[in-house]
Amino acid sequence: SQRTLVLLKPDAVRRGLIGEIIGRIERKADWTITALELRKLDRATLEAHYAEHVGRPFYEPLMEFMLSGPVAVLVVEGESVIAGVRALAGPTDPIAAAPGSIRGDFGTIVRENLIHASDSEESAEREIKIFYPGLA
Ligand code: GTP
Ligand code: MG
Repeated sequence: SQRTLVLLKPDAVRRGLIGEIIGRIERKADWTITALELRKLDRATLEAHYAEHVGRPFYEPLMEFMLSGPVAVLVVEGESVIAGVRALAGPTDPIAAAPGSIRGDFGTIVRENLIHASDSEESAEREIKIFYPGLA
């Protein structure tokens, strides 16, 4: 099985949507939430997490947004969970996301797209180390 790092972004926390989103993840058969914490992130953590986006035009606004309030940080384990959580989330731009997906149901603008989920096994292990260095 796999594990993935999920962030419920400040818009999800502010709008009271984390229960709804965690519920969708939790109800999938055989997936388990193995870490869950509400945290105010610091800039160094976000710089490590979003290193691949340094220099992109959306990088600074994305950092400001991610620093704007607490984030729920989860590790989820289970069968095909990496692609699975990204399928639940929908595409990056919520306007392109189908109804039924998290971004399609609740999002409108690309920066405030509610959720991050690791995009590969390598990303998942890298990101879990950043947010939960104590997890093996
Ligand atoms: P994450 O799961 O958050 O990594 O989203 P993603 O993998 O669907 O998108 P990506 O890694 O390409 O971008 C990271 C985040 O930057 C996105 O989730 C958006 O919040 C933001 N972002 C990406 N592309 C754009 C863009 O073109 N404009 C703006 N404003 N934000 C963007
Ligand atoms: Mg990404």
